[in-house]
Amino acid sequence: MKGIVLAGGSGSRLHPISLVASKQLQPVYDKPMIYYPLATLMLAGIRDILLISTPEDTPRFEELLGDGERWGIRLSYAVQPRPEGIAQAFLVGADFIAAEPVTLILGDNILYGRMRLDDIVRDFREGALIFGYPVRDPERYGVVEFGPDGEVLSLEEKPAEPRTHLAIPGIYLYDTQVLELTRGLKPSARGELEITDLNRAYLERGQLRAQRLGRGIAWLDTGTHESLLEAANFIAAIERRQGLKIACLEEIAYRQGYIQLSAISALVEAMPVSEYRSYLEAILAEPA
Ligand code: DAU
Repeated sequence: MKGIVLAGGSGSRLHPISLVASKQLQPVYDKPMIYYPLATLMLAGIRDILLISTPEDTPRFEELLGDGERWGIRLSYAVQPRPEGIAQAFLVGADFIAAEPVTLILGDNILYGRMRLDDIVRDFREGALIFGYPVRDPERYGVVEFGPDGEVLSLEEKPAEPRTHLAIPGIYLYDTQVLELTRGLKPSARGELEITDLNRAYLERGQLRAQRLGRGIAWLDTGTHESLLEAANFIAAIERRQGLKIACLEEIAYRQGYIQLSAISALVEAMPVSEYRSYLEAILAEPA
């Protein structure tokens, strides 16, 4: 399974903080937003990851994240010249995907909790898999409607009158048909290749599954100043309570077995004195 993080877009809703660095480079409490979706993919066991962003921001992501070697993953980069839709990620990333299944995550989506994405990715065989998550304001998202046996009845993008309260989070799993189906999409009224249209194409083939995410999982939005602040407060509350960091990529790489403890030691040496460094030093000091 390959992974794509889509981290482009105009970020205009966060003006002026997104003027010189994109939304996904902004902090969510103590680390850049992009760390969180990257952590989600790493925890799912996905280690070959393409990051797609704008012509201006892609070099900044490269500077921040490098080739991924320090976390035992492979990171590559591609540019989306204009924000012409989430599904366009598959056209931009066509060479990267080659003939493998792929998980797409949006660079501004934060997921926290026991989602068992590692099992889901391991067991994924064919078709497409999306999720449904209860929210108070479904009209802001893609919305899914389930039938009595858990089958998908309908999909709608930002409906004025949603049929359910189940929003579709920005994480999607697709099989090798994804390129062919994306190539068959037409731009929507707003001129974008819509992810919901791609999911509908799978639905029409009878190959779309949707899984309900329970209320024990946090799916946080970062699209507005308020939701960005709420996400930061959420991360801060858990981290301060537990003394453990969410989305510390070095720690995840180590605990997933992607790197050795000695590699963390070398990384720490090169880090400035900071709370992040102290946290990793505490991991180094853990009894074997
Ligand atoms: O967050 C989940 C929602 O994401 C889904 O429920 C919706 O079905 C889906 O359409 C999307 O809705 P948004 O309103 O959040 O889409 P937005 O255009 O804001 O794009 C989401 C992220 O993807 C954003 O951080 C920018 C990035 N993006 C978006 C487009 C359209 C790109 O990098 N390139 C693009 O062309």
